[in-house]
Amino acid sequence: MVAPTNRTQERLIATYRKKAKHYDITSRLYPAPGYPQRAQRLRSVRALGLRPGDSVIDMACGTGLNFSLLEKAVGPGGRIVGVDLTDAMLARAKDRIAANGWSNISLVQADAAGFGFPAGVNAILSTYAMTQVPECAEVIAHGAAALSAGGRWVVLDLKLPDSLPGWLAQLGTATVRPFASIDEWIMRRPWEAIRAAMQAELADLRWTELFFGTAFLAVGSRGPEPSGGRPQGSGQSD
Ligand SMILES: C[S@@+](CC[C@H](N)C(=O)[O-])C[C@H]1O[C@@H](n2cnc3c(N)ncnc32)[C@H](O)[C@@H]1O
Repeated sequence: MVAPTNRTQERLIATYRKKAKHYDITSRLYPAPGYPQRAQRLRSVRALGLRPGDSVIDMACGTGLNFSLLEKAVGPGGRIVGVDLTDAMLARAKDRIAANGWSNISLVQADAAGFGFPAGVNAILSTYAMTQVPECAEVIAHGAAALSAGGRWVVLDLKLPDSLPGWLAQLGTATVRPFASIDEWIMRRPWEAIRAAMQAELADLRWTELFFGTAFLAVGSRGPEPSGGRPQGSGQSD
């Protein structure tokens, strides 16, 4: 069991302990009714560019909602490591692994900020979690340093639309409220730190705004040369 290191972390763990049991159902409405969550997960996994036999970290994996997509991508010869801070979320992930008979997924209970990424990992994914991690820039940097040449870091998460009035932003991001102070989240603007860190640490960055700017998909890769990497555009929107 990981002992919380501060009040914010304590609150986050307590919140996810309460949410774990029904997370798979309630998260379908996350961040808002009508948001194509399954499609965005699929898109994120595709963006990893995984091949059969690859290794991938699912950072802050929660109950393992990405596992079936990752399994399809890496096949039985690949390796998946799910990392999360909350024991109750990992317990659900463990049940999912057992129910599906997956033998190539291991789970690690750890704070993303202190996690030692295994050197040479082929890809790292994080969905709906990085903006909750105050040290998100450091986590991006640690992961980027561990990636194999050409390996990709993919983050799917929530943000505030750039042009939304403050009051509407408060309303629209109510889903974040249980996990952290919404005011603190708005002030901290973690998606900007994630974008800056990915730009600084990876060979290229493709940043796509999703669902009217309330979410984003960020894809960066570690190129074989400083100017290398797989060809990608930037600043797309849909
Ligand atoms: C909204 S859930 C997302 C879970 C999963 N990635 C998904 O897409 O369904 C956020 C998860 O992040 C985890 N989390 C939050 N802060 C973390 C940290 N510092 N280190 C590791 N996990 C963290 C929580 O325990 C929770 O399981």
